[in-house]
Amino acid sequence: MSKIYIFDTTLRDGEQTPGVNLNKEEKLEIAKQLAKLNVDIIEAGFPIASPGEFEAVKNIADNVKGPVIAALARAIPLDIDRAWEAIKGAESPRIHTFIATSDIHIEKKLRKTRDEVLEQAVSAVKYAKRYCNDVEFSAEDAVRSDFNFLCKVFEAVIEAGATVINVPDTVGYALPWEFGELIKKLKENVKNIDKVIVSVHCHNDLGLATANSLSAIVNGAEQVECTINGLGERAGNAAMEEIIMAIKVRRLPYEVGINTQEIYKTSKLVSTLTGIPIQPNKAVVGENAFAHESGIHQHGIIQDPTTYEIIDPKMIGIPESKIVLGKHSGKHAFEKRLQELGYNLSAEQLEEAFKKFKELADKKKEITDRDIEAIVSNQMRIIPEFYKLEHLQVVSGIGIVPTATVIITEDGEIIKSVEIGNGPVDAVYKAISKAVKIQHNLEDFSLKSITGGTDALGEAVVKISDKDGNYYIGRASSTDIVEASAKAYLRAINQMIMFRGKD
Ligand code: KIV
Ligand code: ZN
Repeated sequence: MSKIYIFDTTLRDGEQTPGVNLNKEEKLEIAKQLAKLNVDIIEAGFPIASPGEFEAVKNIADNVKGPVIAALARAIPLDIDRAWEAIKGAESPRIHTFIATSDIHIEKKLRKTRDEVLEQAVSAVKYAKRYCNDVEFSAEDAVRSDFNFLCKVFEAVIEAGATVINVPDTVGYALPWEFGELIKKLKENVKNIDKVIVSVHCHNDLGLATANSLSAIVNGAEQVECTINGLGERAGNAAMEEIIMAIKVRRLPYEVGINTQEIYKTSKLVSTLTGIPIQPNKAVVGENAFAHESGIHQHGIIQDPTTYEIIDPKMIGIPESKIVLGKHSGKHAFEKRLQELGYNLSAEQLEEAFKKFKELADKKKEITDRDIEAIVSNQMRIIPEFYKLEHLQVVSGIGIVPTATVIITEDGEIIKSVEIGNGPVDAVYKAISKAVKIQHNLEDFSLKSITGGTDALGEAVVKISDKDGNYYIGRASSTDIVEASAKAYLRAINQMIMFRGKD
C-alpha cells in the first residue's frame, strides 16, 4: 500500500478563514492535538505575517514533537529567513515556499514575466536549502497555469533541491477528473519528478476539494494538504476528516497514519478555539452525521447500525449514534429511549405514553429526555405501592451520628427499621433497604431544587437496578428533601416489584 502523507494546514490556511485569529496558546493546543491525531506535517503558520504569528510558529516548533513542522514563506529571502528562524528548533523542520505560476497571477498580481517567476522560484528553493534539507515548493494557482510552464518550473525547483512539489488548486476551480489528469500528466512529463513527493492542495469553492484530493491520490499524489472541518480561505480547504474516512471506509489501497479515534475531538477543539461552528450536516463531524430522525431509519439502526450508517461513530471517537426523537420517530425508538432512561412501562402504559409523545412532537421539533420524563411521570404514579412509607424520622446535626427511623407497610403489615449513616439521606436509604429485603443496587441518586429560595421544592431522582441489569427510576418532590429522597427510593423499588415480583 502506498503511503499518503497528511499535511495539516489548519493553523496556516485554516487560520486564514475570515474571522479567525488564534493566539499563541490556542495554536499550541491545536498543534498538540494534531500531533495526537498523528498527522505527518503541521503547517504552523506564516511567520513573516506578524511578530505574534512568528512567536506562535516558534512555540509550536519548540514544543510539538512527532510531526514535521512547516512554515510558509513567499519566494523571497526575508520571508525564508523569518520562516527558518521560527522553525529551526523543530525536531523535523520544513520550509514551504511558494510563488504563483498562472499567467493571471503573474501579470496582474506579481507584474512579472514567466522567466522572472521561474528564476525567483529556483533562487528561493536554493536559498531555503541553505537552511533546511526539507523544502517544499508550491506553484500557486497551478490548476490555471500553462501546463508546459508548470512542468518547467517544477523541473527547475526539483533540480534546485526541493523535496516536495505542491500542486494547489488555489481557487477551487478544478473538476475531479481534470485534477486527477493534471497529476498524472505532471508525473509523466516532469522528468525528475520521481525524486520528490508530489503534493496537492485543494480549495473548496465548488464543493469539490475532497473529491479533487482523492482523484489526485488515485493518480499518484503522495501528500494531501487539508484542514480540520475544511477551514480555510473563502469556502475553505479539503476537509481532512472527509479524505481520511473516504480512504478508510472504502478501504482504498493507501496507508494513512491518522489515529481516527481523535478526529471528533480535534474537530470540536478546532471549532471551539476558532469560533467557527461546524454545520450540523457536515460530513463525518457534523452534529447530525450520526443522528437519525425518521422512524424507519431509527428502527433499522436499532436492529443493526450498518443499515443506515456507513461509518462506525466509535471509529472517529464518538461513543454512539444518536436517535433524535421527533414527529418522525416510531415506537421502537421511543421505547428504547425509555429503557435507556430507566423506565420500564407496561404495554398499556407504553401505548398511552407514545400517544402523548406524538402529540407533543407535533408541537416541538425535538423531544428531550426531560420531555419524556414529564410524559411518563403520569404512568409512574399508577405504580402500586407494594411498600408504603408511613413514618420517617431523622436525627442529624453537628456532633450527632445521623440516625433514621422508618416505618413502612407491606400489605398492611408494619415493618420498622432504624439505621445510622454518613448523612441523613444515607441513614434513610440504609433503613429502607433493610426494611424492604428486595435485592437491588442503588445506581444513582440526585437531588435538585425545582423552585428557588430556602423553602424550595426539592426533587429527588433515584435509579436502581435489578440483578439482570434492568434499571428503574423513582422520583419525588417535597419541600423536605429527606422525605423526597425516601419517597423516590421507594417508588423505584415499587416499580421494580411491579415488573419482576418480589423474588
Ligand atoms: O492555496 C494556495 O495556493 C496556497 C499556497 C500558499 C499553497 O495556500
Ligand atoms: Zn491555500
